[in-house]
Amino acid sequence: MLNYLVSLLFICVFFSPLWASPLVDFQVAQPLTLPSDAKQCTVKILERTFAFSYGSPEVVSYTPATDCGTPGSWAGISLNLTVTSNGTQYDRLGIFTLNNVEIWRTSTPEPTRGDGIIWTYLKDVTRYTPLFAVPGTFTLELDNLIETGLDGEYASVLYATFYASSAQHPPGLHADVILPISTLANNSGDLISVPPTFSLNVTVPRNAISIYAEIIPSGNGDEEFWCFNIPNQWLNDLPADTTFGYGPFREVRLMVDGSVVGVVFPYVVVFTGGIAPTLWRPITSYGALDLPTFYVDLTPFVPVLTDGQPHNISMDVVSAENDHEINQNWYLTANLQVVTDKSSTKPTTGKITVYDVQPFAETTTFGSVKNGVVSTTVTATRNIHIESDIISGSGERTHVVWLQSLSYSNVQTYRQNASVQTLRQTTTGSVSSTHNGQSTIVDNFSLPFNVDFTYLTPDWTNWTTSVDHSYNRVAAVHPYVISTTIKNHQTAAAFFQLASTGNFGFGNNSNTFSYSDLNGNTYTWDVSSVNTSITHNAQGGTLAQNHQLPDETSSEVQSIFAKPRLPGRNNP
Ligand SMILES: *[C@@H]1O[C@H](CO)[C@@H](O)[C@H](O)[C@H]1NC(C)=O
Ligand SMILES: *[C@@H]1O[C@H](CO)[C@@H](O)[C@H](O)[C@H]1NC(C)=O
Ligand SMILES: *[C@@H]1O[C@H](CO)[C@@H](O)[C@H](O)[C@H]1NC(C)=O
Ligand SMILES: *[C@@H]1O[C@H](CO)[C@@H](O)[C@H](O)[C@H]1NC(C)=O
Ligand SMILES: *[C@@H]1O[C@H](CO)[C@@H](O)[C@H](O)[C@H]1NC(C)=O
Ligand SMILES: *[C@@H]1O[C@H](CO)[C@@H](O)[C@H](O)[C@H]1NC(C)=O
Ligand SMILES: *[C@@H]1O[C@H](CO)[C@@H](O)[C@H](O)[C@H]1NC(C)=O
Ligand SMILES: *[C@@H]1O[C@H](CO)[C@@H](O)[C@H](O)[C@H]1NC(C)=O
Ligand SMILES: *[C@@H]1O[C@H](CO)[C@@H](O)[C@H](O)[C@H]1NC(C)=O
Ligand SMILES: *[C@@H]1O[C@H](CO)[C@@H](O)[C@H](O)[C@H]1NC(C)=O
Repeated sequence: MLNYLVSLLFICVFFSPLWASPLVDFQVAQPLTLPSDAKQCTVKILERTFAFSYGSPEVVSYTPATDCGTPGSWAGISLNLTVTSNGTQYDRLGIFTLNNVEIWRTSTPEPTRGDGIIWTYLKDVTRYTPLFAVPGTFTLELDNLIETGLDGEYASVLYATFYASSAQHPPGLHADVILPISTLANNSGDLISVPPTFSLNVTVPRNAISIYAEIIPSGNGDEEFWCFNIPNQWLNDLPADTTFGYGPFREVRLMVDGSVVGVVFPYVVVFTGGIAPTLWRPITSYGALDLPTFYVDLTPFVPVLTDGQPHNISMDVVSAENDHEINQNWYLTANLQVVTDKSSTKPTTGKITVYDVQPFAETTTFGSVKNGVVSTTVTATRNIHIESDIISGSGERTHVVWLQSLSYSNVQTYRQNASVQTLRQTTTGSVSSTHNGQSTIVDNFSLPFNVDFTYLTPDWTNWTTSVDHSYNRVAAVHPYVISTTIKNHQTAAAFFQLASTGNFGFGNNSNTFSYSDLNGNTYTWDVSSVNTSITHNAQGGTLAQNHQLPDETSSEVQSIFAKPRLPGRNNP
């Protein structure tokens, strides 16, 4: 018997390198900061293999866990999405919606055939506790297609973990009421598609004293590579189908009864089939598994919104073109995190004392065509200043100051009949809201995005590319979203070849990531890959002890990919 076990062990050790093990894909991010020593209740929310799932999301009934304290009293909530896939497939968008509120937008790494791929992403969703505290409907929309040449299915399982609160671990902080700004459909992820402008009648609790809007934007279709779109005036100076028009500047506007209250200059999310799939394996582009969200303080409009009547909350996405139009389409949703007066149900009143907001950003557009070189420069600046005096039902007076100061610049150059392309984009912002001088929203960011492209053949069937981008952000919504400082710098380079026998390529990717927060948690992760093998992998900081790094030396010889997504139509 012992001999048998020893030889079994020998066989296992000896042959284990031959056992199929999928490539582990991941996005750099900080580990969860929820208390690992709290009592935890983990429940499976849903499990589904998304094959031909277009228009058929997973919709399940949700019931709050009751074994980790009274629903809603939790110290925190996290989600664990784990997905495997084997085959050829595009990246797909994934939308998690609880009671019509989108709580997480993700996308899928592109699979390959053979051993396939697997990924897990853990997400802190404590700020959505009011939604998790009551029974409802949980939806994952992941529109996948199975057709000739595309057979990758996404086998997905989602768990939620509830962390019991205790004397040591107080309940997580969150707003009192969360209202959806979405299509409110019950059979989808409720994404709003703009254009046209989306509008919804919203009635807020009359005793609302603060309202924070969280906005989730992403470009789709002809707007997926929005930052590569060229101003209409120069579109015809490029070979047909090089890119789309309406320029590269995009601003998401949030309006109440037609007045702009706040805007978002979006972060560029490159999905894993974007530009060259071999840039993003096994390390995805930063944000691809957890699309960044942005906050606008709606509190200055509380005196308008608390009259008990429905108000027209609308959103759109506009460009720097004269008509402000864009292509089809952007996907948006928002949610309103509403804080109510604890000691009174009497309505909040007050008045807006400063409203210094232009309908559109200030923009400039330049371009030139010289010696066959087409270049364009688009810049934008945006300053928003709104102040209000608010009197709660219980008599407390609050002076609110909401400020956004954003700037943007995009320089595109097309040489050699557009076969050599460069993009240099910077987006910076300083956003703040104070309530009686106390800082509530802080959002300072710098989001440079630089790409170089060289098509190596006149038919544009192979190319080299490099991407150098960063996500540097200090953000908080005090006290509901703790102040975090994230700095990520990612550089990636790749070669890609389209071929009738199967598209292939190779690439490398390098990330320097750091995280710190107001609770004293710190984390650093430096990770690089070459041709899907991890070549450098080091973590540090207080959060490192609970986090196991992916450790892989890929034996993958050559993978076949779906056609990459590139700027422009039908390219190549
Ligand atoms: C996430 O879920 C996967 C699949 O069920 C599981 O293997 C993994 O251990 C989970 N991770 C954590 C941190 O709970
Ligand atoms: C992936 O699918 C292929 C068939 O397309 C199959 O040969 C292979 O065994 C599968 N791999 C795994 C790990 O299931
Ligand atoms: C969604 O379901 C809710 C609750 O059942 C219902 O009130 C609402 O009308 C439904 N929405 C749509 C668009 O059907
Ligand atoms: C909101 O309701 C008003 C009537 O109260 C109606 O006239 C208006 O069309 C509605 N707006 C939207 C966006 O549904
Ligand atoms: C709501 O506001 C938007 C933006 O100003 C506007 O386009 C729309 O017509 C308004 N809807 C109604 C029903 O007033
Ligand atoms: C420029 O590229 C277009 C398509 O990419 C091609 O049709 C055209 O012949 C090229 N022109 C020159 C001068 O190479
Ligand atoms: C955000 O930027 C503003 C303006 O540059 C600065 O005054 C403020 O200190 C910054 N806040 C943080 C938390 O970095
Ligand atoms: C690019 O593709 C062409 C055929 O379309 C091929 O001749 C050439 O060798 C390829 N270049 C590289 C660097 O592989
Ligand atoms: C990454 O790939 C680019 C282009 O393919 C190459 O020039 C560079 O040396 C590579 N870097 C590493 C670390 O392998
Ligand atoms: C990456 O793969 C390409 C193509 O197979 C190969 O030419 C290159 O040498 C590889 N790079 C490294 C560092 O292994």
